[in-house]
Amino acid sequence: MKPIQVGLLGIGTVGSGTYEVLQRNQEEIKRRAGRGIEVTMVADLDVARAKSIVGSHVQVVDDARKVIANPDIDIVVELIGGYGIAKQLVLEAIEAGKHVVTANKALLAVHGTEIFAAAHKKGVMVAFEAAVAGGIPIIKALREGLTANRIQWLAGIINGTTNFILSEMRDKGLTFDDVLKQAQALGYAEADPTFDIEGVDAAHKATLMSAIAFGVPVQFDKAYVEGITQLESQDIKYAEQLGYRIKLLGISKRTPAGIELRVHPCLVPSKRLIANVEGAMNAVMVHADAVGTTLYYGKGAGSEPTASAVIADLVDITRLHTADPLNRVPHLAFQPDAMSDLPVLPMDQVVTSYYLRLRVADQAGVLAKVTGILANADISIDAVLQREAGEGESHTDLIILTHDCVEAKMNQAIAEMQKLTTVLAPITRIRKEELN
Ligand code: HSE
Repeated sequence: MKPIQVGLLGIGTVGSGTYEVLQRNQEEIKRRAGRGIEVTMVADLDVARAKSIVGSHVQVVDDARKVIANPDIDIVVELIGGYGIAKQLVLEAIEAGKHVVTANKALLAVHGTEIFAAAHKKGVMVAFEAAVAGGIPIIKALREGLTANRIQWLAGIINGTTNFILSEMRDKGLTFDDVLKQAQALGYAEADPTFDIEGVDAAHKATLMSAIAFGVPVQFDKAYVEGITQLESQDIKYAEQLGYRIKLLGISKRTPAGIELRVHPCLVPSKRLIANVEGAMNAVMVHADAVGTTLYYGKGAGSEPTASAVIADLVDITRLHTADPLNRVPHLAFQPDAMSDLPVLPMDQVVTSYYLRLRVADQAGVLAKVTGILANADISIDAVLQREAGEGESHTDLIILTHDCVEAKMNQAIAEMQKLTTVLAPITRIRKEELN
């Protein structure tokens, strides 16, 4: 049978990995897919560089629209990124009847509803395994492997840059700013790392996982997003003394009132496997009714790990493209006419537990006043740690771990504690998840 013909839009890190792995493993991939998969056309602004990667037998152009217009191309792989021209090209490829594979989480998290609707109308597939957690097949697991289950929650370390920064802060006692500079010098972090360190990249990925886990539309605009820029090394140390590590988690939970969708730094018990995911690695925990808790771990970025996910999608499309569109796996796991309208909950309705650090005057009665405020708000305390005041110091740090409560109550209690004259600095609040 004639090989499936693939056109790459962009041949940077992931594109070149995709080309290389397809070449290297072509026999193995053909045995799995049932026919060959060949990159026959590449569009990249740097034509000379692209040619140096793919050689002379692949057509290289500088205009992505030439790939889309080529009637021989079956699948367009979008590896440009962002939601500017990439959105336009993906919609044009769909309109031209091409199947699309993309690693672009930002595009799908923000414009997924429009893109999946267009693909549904044209009867083409849009596959995005590479968009979440790089080489970890988490989309396939959520959409197909766990299809028997009612998924209850998922929590993931889905941004390698921030996990690397947190690991270094903990290991070496360095500040956020110092580790970020080091990561940039080593090429781990982007020159503009805003999307990573502010939690936006993780929120894009959490949004996509949430949609396929619960059968809700992609709703990035409703996600709560908090990054790690405000995190202080002392909180990492105090957390450790209490048996926790701090991770940037993407969390989505089903509750009777709606879906929680949030990204923020989070205390996780040190004994959980996910708390021990270090450096740039990714991991996602999923809790579902039949299977219980499962954990998926691996490289969340990089040329060949991400290529592994892109090629898995190419193989899926190769196997399914002749199937009746109604009998293919739905883009978002659930049939488009069976989506749930459960709302995404605002953050003040989320229920979780907390780590609080208060810089307080070292005086009699301070602890009683603080715990009194928490008791009045019906917030139960799990543990208290007080740093011994240093010699000559008239202040100390009070660390409190709480049990679960609704965020609105905690906001109110923090506002009241902040008003105490014996609370000397803004209170640090980090959320905590037991993940059990
Ligand atoms: N910038 C991402 C990370 C990789 O640091 O994990 C691509 O999603």
